[in-house]
Amino acid sequence: MPNVSCLRSLLILLCLIPATLAAQTIQWQEIYPGVWKGVAGKPDDYDLLKAAEITPSQALAKLSKEAFPLNKAEIQVQQNNGKTYLRLPLVKNEQLFGFGLNFQTVHQRGRIMQLHADHYGKTDNGRTHAPVPFYVSSLGYGVFVNSAKYIDVYAGSNVRKDSKNPPEVMDRNTNKSWSAHPYSDAVEMLIPAQGIEIYVFAGPKPINAIQRFNLLSGGGCLPPRWGLGFTQRVHRLYTSEQVKQEAKAFEEKGFPLDFIGLEPGWQSKSYPCTFEWDKSRFPDPAGFVKEMDAMGVKINLWTNPYVSPDAAIYKPILPFTGSHTVWNGIVPDLSMPQARKILFDQFEKEHVKIGVSGYKIDEVDGFDSYLWPDVATFPSGHSSEQIRQTYGLLVQKHSFEMFRRNNARTYGLVRASNAGGASFPYVIYNDNYSHEDFITALINSGYAGVLWTPEVRASKTAEEWLRRFQTVCFSPMAMINAWSSSTQPWTFPEVAAQVKAVAELRMRMMPYWYSEFAKYHYDGTPPFRGMSLEEGFSGNVIKEKTATDLEANPYEEALIKEVKDQYMAGEFLLVAPLFTGQKSRKVILPKGKWFDFYTGKLVGDGEIITISPGLDQIPVFVKNGAIIPMMPALLHAPKAEQKVDLEIRHYGDQNGSYKLYDDDGETFAYEKGIFSWRDIKVEKQKDGKLKGSISNAEANKPSTVGNISWRYMTE
Ligand code: GAL
Repeated sequence: MPNVSCLRSLLILLCLIPATLAAQTIQWQEIYPGVWKGVAGKPDDYDLLKAAEITPSQALAKLSKEAFPLNKAEIQVQQNNGKTYLRLPLVKNEQLFGFGLNFQTVHQRGRIMQLHADHYGKTDNGRTHAPVPFYVSSLGYGVFVNSAKYIDVYAGSNVRKDSKNPPEVMDRNTNKSWSAHPYSDAVEMLIPAQGIEIYVFAGPKPINAIQRFNLLSGGGCLPPRWGLGFTQRVHRLYTSEQVKQEAKAFEEKGFPLDFIGLEPGWQSKSYPCTFEWDKSRFPDPAGFVKEMDAMGVKINLWTNPYVSPDAAIYKPILPFTGSHTVWNGIVPDLSMPQARKILFDQFEKEHVKIGVSGYKIDEVDGFDSYLWPDVATFPSGHSSEQIRQTYGLLVQKHSFEMFRRNNARTYGLVRASNAGGASFPYVIYNDNYSHEDFITALINSGYAGVLWTPEVRASKTAEEWLRRFQTVCFSPMAMINAWSSSTQPWTFPEVAAQVKAVAELRMRMMPYWYSEFAKYHYDGTPPFRGMSLEEGFSGNVIKEKTATDLEANPYEEALIKEVKDQYMAGEFLLVAPLFTGQKSRKVILPKGKWFDFYTGKLVGDGEIITISPGLDQIPVFVKNGAIIPMMPALLHAPKAEQKVDLEIRHYGDQNGSYKLYDDDGETFAYEKGIFSWRDIKVEKQKDGKLKGSISNAEANKPSTVGNISWRYMTE
């Protein structure tokens, strides 16, 4: 007969077994060259990619074959109290980027967050407009967890007792190197689901992993040309007459303007919304949109998706809405085809058919006290959490499809997105107004497969106005959002000339911006991105010692200063904005020679420079051999087939090449192959002089290039 202690040991063993058994195998499948999908357990039926209904880009199939970038055995999945625990390896000196649209931090290693769609609340804790569960490692691979749940992330912040790679144990009493954050060898996540779908992207470089991630969502969006011009959002209660006057003022003063955004007052009721025109302010919407179009200005409409009891679609959509209201409006369950048909049919009939060019879809991110709570239920059966994580994707996807049906490209604004949203032509914005945070967000957007605008609203001083304006002209959407301030570009007369100059520069650079967006679309390269993705950049971490106050914080450590105030704009430009009060700043130049954008002069060679550029211009530096195609400073983007003269600039002392993209800029014809790439080359001749050439446009392909002049900026 077994004795009691034997039985007890057996019992203890039996209790331990489930924990070991719960470790799950991941079924890996290489779905494209360098892209693996892994499935463990029983993932949720509804996830981010399903909500986004993505069609992966055909370019994926043409990518280089790469080896799986991690040791598969070190990626572990376990069931843990009804949730899925995921562990991925990390080595020393590896840095992580991504985990959504962060505003204050670029380096994510060591951070703890819960990815949760929300309005950014001034801390990077995972609550953000685009809580994208994707990260990219400095070692050149990316990881994406395809879940529409709130995911807990420990990005190399903790250590397991069974770690194979534990940190050195140190005695704080005697060892000065003791750290409150010892090295952790893993990214750990907790996903509240019975299983997971995970994607691993190979590099070889970090940028290649991002490209693969973006291509999986169909490639980055391709805005219409006019989307890359200037846009003004007018006061919320403007009438059609006032909007016309505004457009006239731009024209008379010679400020570029491609589209005007109407804020809530265009609707008969807002918060909640009717989606119907307010006839007292806009008596003839169709006539108004037509007249604006004749002036070269398109119309974009603000809305949120919460349906007013006074809306014509209230009754029909009611059965397809959630249990809770937002500002007394019902919340369409846009994961249901019935709900989106009713909502977007209304948009199409009332707005798109009369020529409205796009939307600003507000309030789909948070805040908790306004939005539906997590106890809400939705008729699709998807949880409130899942709807919250995907609502931004759903509004983008289905409004975009509506424009596609009408063969008119759109470019608008949205306040929430997520993984899978890269191909939707929407730019994220928010209500925060920190210029510094706005630039950090611009950097992080490139790691998250989203676009971000550091919009200008109002300023205390002319200096601040100009500094903000300069950066928005080097971003995905050059915009003033004057919905409450009624500001205009010339609001501060003392800097109106400089504001105009940079607005004109934005227009002159349109051929460059457009080609860079085409690269986002066709090969997944983010047009605006962080320096870590740049070859030869080594300014990753600067540690700054803070005064140690053990009373206030017994675990205080050196502050890690990240590079979050300079970024890359397209293939060749490094932008180093200044903030109010700053007279000079440091710029970290990656390896190689760099040139001043305005003068073509050499500024440095893989070094840290200090600049004091004055107020007039935003510092922009250009890579050696860069080619920047420019056009005249038109007041409106060129229309389909309009020939435009090019000034092709070359910088530096090296040969250069550039791919110039062309299509009609307005319709979806490019999806049928109606586009062209032209090769621009600048080469040194026998006499040492540089000479430019451009390949001919293919027969029967779009060709809008007029006369060409060449400018060798560094001669
Ligand atoms: C906010 C939005 C602002 C403006 C305003 C209008 O939610 O972020 O940009 O559109 O609504 O009421």
